[in-house]
Amino acid sequence: MTDRKPRVLATRLFPEDVETRLTANFDARLNPQDKLYDGPALAKAAEGFDAIMCAAGDALSAATIAALPDSVRMIATFSVGYEHVDVAAAAKRDIIVSNTPDVLTDATADIAMLCLLGAARRAHEGTTMLRTHSWIGWEPRQLMGVHVTGRRLGILGMGRIGQAMADRARAFRMTIHYSNRSRLPPDIEKGAVFHANPDDMLPHCDFLSINAPMTPATRKWVNAERIARLPRGAVVVNTARGGVVDDEALITALKSGHLFAAGLDVFDGEPKIHPGYYELENAFLLPHMGSATVDTRNAMGFKALDNLEAFLLRGQTPPDLVKPF
Ligand code: DGY
Repeated sequence: MTDRKPRVLATRLFPEDVETRLTANFDARLNPQDKLYDGPALAKAAEGFDAIMCAAGDALSAATIAALPDSVRMIATFSVGYEHVDVAAAAKRDIIVSNTPDVLTDATADIAMLCLLGAARRAHEGTTMLRTHSWIGWEPRQLMGVHVTGRRLGILGMGRIGQAMADRARAFRMTIHYSNRSRLPPDIEKGAVFHANPDDMLPHCDFLSINAPMTPATRKWVNAERIARLPRGAVVVNTARGGVVDDEALITALKSGHLFAAGLDVFDGEPKIHPGYYELENAFLLPHMGSATVDTRNAMGFKALDNLEAFLLRGQTPPDLVKPF
């Protein structure tokens, strides 16, 4: 044991209070310009560092992890999703990986509800009408959307965020359907209808909310066949990961009118999103801002630091260790 502070490489410009604690407890290299590292640059920059604090936009692929210097023993991601880190490749190199569950549940469920309402009630068209000075006044047929209160909401992935979304939807007197790896106990299910096979849930969804993580099993899960099983006029909401949706299929269904609208906060290949979305008036689009509140982003950073401190300062197992999918 030496007296030196453990060294942490921060790949992004994190919130100020988070960086204050990071630099107080570790010998940290920050990224004040917030310039993204590519794989080889990250491996080079990590030379001599004990840990990397990264975020959802950093691709820590198997190749990047294989190229990391031996000094790196931990990767702490500032996110609940961790599909961008090849955890199996990290395990092979004895590098542990942690994430930040729980603290972003409410903020993300709030944005999911915003996406649902924004898509159903044509918020994009309304704000555009005003901002382009083309609103000629109230009209009986203007911007008629889909009624939300009392309709059926299907939730794919009833983890923490899915449950928080269901709680919000109950305030709109929506009937909740859900599909999950396992059925929830009655006190958490709160009367929601469980579908062991998610395909069976689709015909019951006036609204479909994606709240499942991106895994090999969920990649492009929302495809043309499954969209066809949704009732005509349904609304799709995605605040989980863009890769769960087949963009071509979603765009086709939004154009044909089979789907009334979509509310999307996440995109495959973001920030270079499928160009077809820009053309669609019935796509309510947000730039991956589910967790973007001051409190939540601080809490995510503090959680990442709790994990780093447990391992690097106290030699303990980090509380939010993740396993390969
Ligand atoms: C996460 O934590 O996975 C979010 O998508 C980032 O806000």
